[in-house]
Amino acid sequence: MKSHPPIQFPSQFLWGAATSAYQIEGAHDVDGRAPSIWDSFAKTPGRVVNGDNGDIACDSYRRVEEDVALLKQMGARAYRFSIAWPRVMPHGRGEVNPLGIAYYKRLVSLLRDAGIAPMATLYHWDLPQALHDEGGWMNRRTAQDFAAFAAVMFDALGESVPFWFTVNEPWCASFLSHAIGEHAPGEKDLNRAVTVAHHLLLGHGLAMTEFRKRKLGGQIGMAPNVDWREPYSQDPEDIAACERGLDWFNRWFIDPIYHGRYPAAMAARYAELGIRAPIEDGDMATISQHPDMLGINYYTGSFAKAPANPLPLRPGDSPQRQMDALRNLDTVNVPGFAKTHIDWPIFPEGFTKVLTWLRDEYGNPPVFITENGACDNTQVGHDGQVHDALRVEYMHRHVIALHRAIRSGCDIRGYMAWSLLDNFEWAYGYGKRFGLIHVDFGTQQRTPKDSFHWYSQLIANNGCAA
Ligand code: NOJ
Repeated sequence: MKSHPPIQFPSQFLWGAATSAYQIEGAHDVDGRAPSIWDSFAKTPGRVVNGDNGDIACDSYRRVEEDVALLKQMGARAYRFSIAWPRVMPHGRGEVNPLGIAYYKRLVSLLRDAGIAPMATLYHWDLPQALHDEGGWMNRRTAQDFAAFAAVMFDALGESVPFWFTVNEPWCASFLSHAIGEHAPGEKDLNRAVTVAHHLLLGHGLAMTEFRKRKLGGQIGMAPNVDWREPYSQDPEDIAACERGLDWFNRWFIDPIYHGRYPAAMAARYAELGIRAPIEDGDMATISQHPDMLGINYYTGSFAKAPANPLPLRPGDSPQRQMDALRNLDTVNVPGFAKTHIDWPIFPEGFTKVLTWLRDEYGNPPVFITENGACDNTQVGHDGQVHDALRVEYMHRHVIALHRAIRSGCDIRGYMAWSLLDNFEWAYGYGKRFGLIHVDFGTQQRTPKDSFHWYSQLIANNGCAA
């Protein structure tokens, strides 16, 4: 008789891995693909470490069979990929590129033949440059264009893709990109970031409308990144600081979807800076159409402490200072926390806590973990293997934390490891590796790492050691 491992997941639990188009596809000018804001940004000197860009990346556009075969070898039951808008609609709107559609049809059919459920993300940050040239996400019209692109994809793949995510990590696509300036298009203006955030939410809602119109059988939702904040102490001041942090990062995107409004206390703080989301009549109803599920990307967390010197909210300050003042907290990384190779503290307890927090805040929605994983830069050793012990430990601890959340009643349906392959890690370029599979970017040789084999065992057993 087969003995079950101590940590056992529900029988239908969907294990898989995730990637995104610009990070893996390459083939940037092939078959009619036009540039996105990331092509332009990466080619601007000083924006990406080492001047790296996604022209070739993992060459997955050409190696799609090999990559699906690796997923199958791993035992994945689902694969989360993203669809490059500038491949499908090179000008952002209007003309549809049949070769772009054909690529995703092929990917989906390869996955289905391999018994792997396709999970498609519609926006993983590669806005067509043509739309950006007209103002990009600052334009309300971009939300409509996004919905039109989504509609094209629902018509092309709606019957064969059971899981859809509209926007990946809207915080990154707005604040990190328009206020902090680390991601494309590299702006530093908080007011613009808040407008972009609203238009991304609106784009999500309008895409939901298109999906519902078609009465498709699949499920759809958004995939925000959440940050876990824990009060440093039970001092009410620390608790209030923590709440500000959660409002600023998590609730700003999830409240509009589940509660149909922005978090009031944080909206009032923005108003003190003279910043308001450009909400028009009907927007919040569009945004808060009931999603089928919530995608959660979780990597790290920290403790929040009331600041010794509170920062005033001053309209003239730099965006960074304004953001610090909005949160008004000191971040404390508990000493002794190990960090991954990208310097993010490893905090699996935060994973359980953020999931139970979501359960309580939003009425226990069905959740898919759309990303979780570690940067571990271990290379291929003399034995031809990649002994990425840090990643194995990170994943093991996070899977246990996830199991704890399920035991405490959270409705969690699946887990997508980030990432299937080492890939283009945005502003860090190729120097930060998150893959279960090592990629030699010179030869495109793929080498499954120890974590790949470990994860494969976990999937086979639907569980792991405690
Ligand atoms: C979140 C993003 O969605 C993904 O593109 C990125 O590579 C990982 N986190 C790691 O930073």
